[in-house]
Amino acid sequence: MEHYRVVGGRRLVGRVRVGGSKNAALPILFASLLFSEPVTVKNVPVIADVECALMLLRAYGASVEREGHTVHIDARSANMREGVGGGECLRASVYLLGALLARFREAELPLPGGCNFGIRPIDYHIAAMERLGAEVSFDNGRLTARAASLSGCEITFPRPSVGATVNALLAAVLAEGKTVIRGAAREPHIVDLIRFLVAGGARIHGAGGSVLTVEGVPSLHSITHTLIPDAIEAGTYLFMGAATGGDVAVSGLDNAENDTIALHLSRMGATVLRSENELRVRADHRLLPTVATTAPFPGFPTDLQPVLAAACLTASGTSFITERVWQHRFQYLTPLSAFGGECRVFGETALVRGGRLSGCAVRATDLRGGAALLLAALAAEGESRIFSVGLIRRGYETPEKILRALGASVERILP
Ligand code: EPU
Repeated sequence: MEHYRVVGGRRLVGRVRVGGSKNAALPILFASLLFSEPVTVKNVPVIADVECALMLLRAYGASVEREGHTVHIDARSANMREGVGGGECLRASVYLLGALLARFREAELPLPGGCNFGIRPIDYHIAAMERLGAEVSFDNGRLTARAASLSGCEITFPRPSVGATVNALLAAVLAEGKTVIRGAAREPHIVDLIRFLVAGGARIHGAGGSVLTVEGVPSLHSITHTLIPDAIEAGTYLFMGAATGGDVAVSGLDNAENDTIALHLSRMGATVLRSENELRVRADHRLLPTVATTAPFPGFPTDLQPVLAAACLTASGTSFITERVWQHRFQYLTPLSAFGGECRVFGETALVRGGRLSGCAVRATDLRGGAALLLAALAAEGESRIFSVGLIRRGYETPEKILRALGASVERILP
């Protein structure tokens, strides 16, 4: 069975250049359906979730060409209904709802898939489409929506939702009149989506804030856009560097998510050095335990919570990590605790007691939980095998190559 074989106990040393942000790539690729001219997106990571998004775009009739990390999309011949070759492979397929409604005033799509951490409702998405004038229904495991017209309106989200903010933006960009979105998500990938749409002629104000104003335009024109770097990938390699007592620099960074990552690394006793677009972490001694709580941007990102917990498992004491974005994002703690130390969950808080880690065989439960297992394997003494690597490859492009370049012993074993 495919797995990663890791021989742990080696310090990671060197420089990593991170790829484009997964969670910017997905909305931007689906947003290309709004454009009446071809678009080019650069710095697109070669990861399973992106390949699944490209497959869906093709299934909806768009012409998609990939040359390395550059993707050309011509959606002029797209349809509102999926043809052959689509699938329920990822969460972000829900972006088809706003994109197809905007383009065709009609949409039919598979129910979204994605990592399983409890209930992942889409009630905010649906309420936003209904406010804009659409009727949405579920039928035979599919989501359908129809609107005689989309009209600007006021949308207020009870809490920030990345996905619902994306859908509201996509549907409002080509609607008639002005839409005000309150309680919007403020993540850098939302700002990147807005940059993409605005470059194509959309009129959106307030990027980076919680109130967005969209003035509908009739169409969007051809553009080339370069995705922002992936802060979660950056954070993953920085925590791996710190937990192995190493010295790792991540370059190509330009977004503010790195502030909170740097803060937590230094609280854990690592030395953090910053230059213009680079963050470097050096750990000369065992990490210190910490206390952290996840929150929407600019808080500590939930997508790094598992990697932080794995770093805490190498620390010299007891850490407390509270998860405030997802209801059930601690399922990876069961395989993680097989390495040693102690992990216990009390409601929304996990207690992680550091200990001496030894290699073992474990199965990833989800994308970021899988990255946490990789970190533990790198820090553990002896050999580990990590199964279900397909989950890790949903969000990390060739992690084995990057880690080997930093001095780790990691091999991807194919069946
Ligand atoms: N929520 C609702 N109703 C909704 C939508 C969301 O109650 O209609 C709740 C969710 O249950 C959750 C919270 O709002 O408690 C935030 O969810 P959000 O909508 O922001 O999450 P998402 O858009 O489904 C994206 C990322 C996730 C990341 C979250 C939070 C993508 C494709 N996915 O999910 O990324 O954890 O935002 O930042 O952008 C990952 O990369 O590993 C990943 C899971």
